[in-house]
Amino acid sequence: MNSKLLTDRRKGLIKQLKDKGLVIVFAASVSKYPRNFLQDKNFKYLAGLDVPDAILVISKQKKSVMEIFIERGIPEMEVWEGKKLTKAEATEISGIQRISFLDEFERKIGFYLASASSVHANLGYNNIDKPLNKAQNFIDKAKKHFPQLTVTDITKLMIPLRSVKTKWEIEQMQKAIDITGDGIKNIFKKSKIGMMEYELDAILKYEINRNGLKHIGFKSIIASGKNAATLHDEQNDSKIGKDEMALLDVGAACNGYSADISRTFPVSGKFTKRQKEVYSEVLAINKKIIKMVKPGIGMKELNEKTVELIQKSLIKLKLIKDKKDYRKYYMHSIGHHLGMDTHDLGARDSVLEVGNVITIEPGIYIPEEKIGVRIEDDILVTKTGYKNLSENIPKEINELES
Ligand code: GLY
Ligand code: MN
Ligand code: MN
Repeated sequence: MNSKLLTDRRKGLIKQLKDKGLVIVFAASVSKYPRNFLQDKNFKYLAGLDVPDAILVISKQKKSVMEIFIERGIPEMEVWEGKKLTKAEATEISGIQRISFLDEFERKIGFYLASASSVHANLGYNNIDKPLNKAQNFIDKAKKHFPQLTVTDITKLMIPLRSVKTKWEIEQMQKAIDITGDGIKNIFKKSKIGMMEYELDAILKYEINRNGLKHIGFKSIIASGKNAATLHDEQNDSKIGKDEMALLDVGAACNGYSADISRTFPVSGKFTKRQKEVYSEVLAINKKIIKMVKPGIGMKELNEKTVELIQKSLIKLKLIKDKKDYRKYYMHSIGHHLGMDTHDLGARDSVLEVGNVITIEPGIYIPEEKIGVRIEDDILVTKTGYKNLSENIPKEINELES
């Protein structure tokens, strides 16, 4: 990724700020045991750096100022932990000239705060019974020192930026989707009755890593038989029984951008009559709703149409008599924005615009028949309508049986 893309993103942010607006974005911290690190998405989006604990400051004054604070490398520690990012490397990646060390932050931030009237920080959200996080603690203190400040969470400013994908972002998502598709096709080929669900996950992960991607975007859901009727069954530790279908809800990540694909297939290679009936209904709804996607349509309209179609299907499948009982077999909504987060920024009732990427994922879940079907595609909103980014991942009955 080149730093020009990051510069454009920051320009988009600054444009939304009032004069004397200040943005402070905290990178994620690392948890040491087990050592894992998942960067804060807003920090990554604006600064591009993958290092923990860094802080980005953007101040809109007559002339806007940007500064990043990073950890100072201590040679004795670097023997154990590896080299820290240097100032020159931070500038090279982020395109920001002014780089300082974290031990200078407290003294320097006072100057920014003293001349600011509003602060936007990635405060995040945690339940009130939990301790304050790093950003919340900092803002708490800043407000006591500088009571003139109004504080808001940065999310509102990030939604219009992150929900409209650039060409580069769409390329990352397409790659994540294509490689996820390779993994799914390999599962179709190699899975057998009697395998454990986690073996299917291993096939997927091997294919993702073998194709040059290190990470998945979210924990795989591999659910056979009645497990498929539990929406977020992430246990993946059941044995696949005779005549069972498996529901795969999976996604690789490419440069931090996630795919989110669901496919449901008969592991034996042949649907039962009833499975085929249910599957056909979900597939038809998946296709109809995808065709509705275009700029200007609301997620609300897509949801309402889905409910109407699901109700008809459930009556046809003799699962309900009264259409208002549909929630028993369909409990979620039609989809969500997709991007750096699997459930990306963008309201569930948003009106779609060119550059949005959303999922379309209808499903019918019948635990008493050990059947759960979800078919999920990733859809880009284009000027003329939509492009199905996952159209090459098989979902037709004859493809799944062959
Ligand atoms: N993988 C979670 C979802 O489809 O929303
Ligand atoms: Mn999914
Ligand atoms: Mn989804």
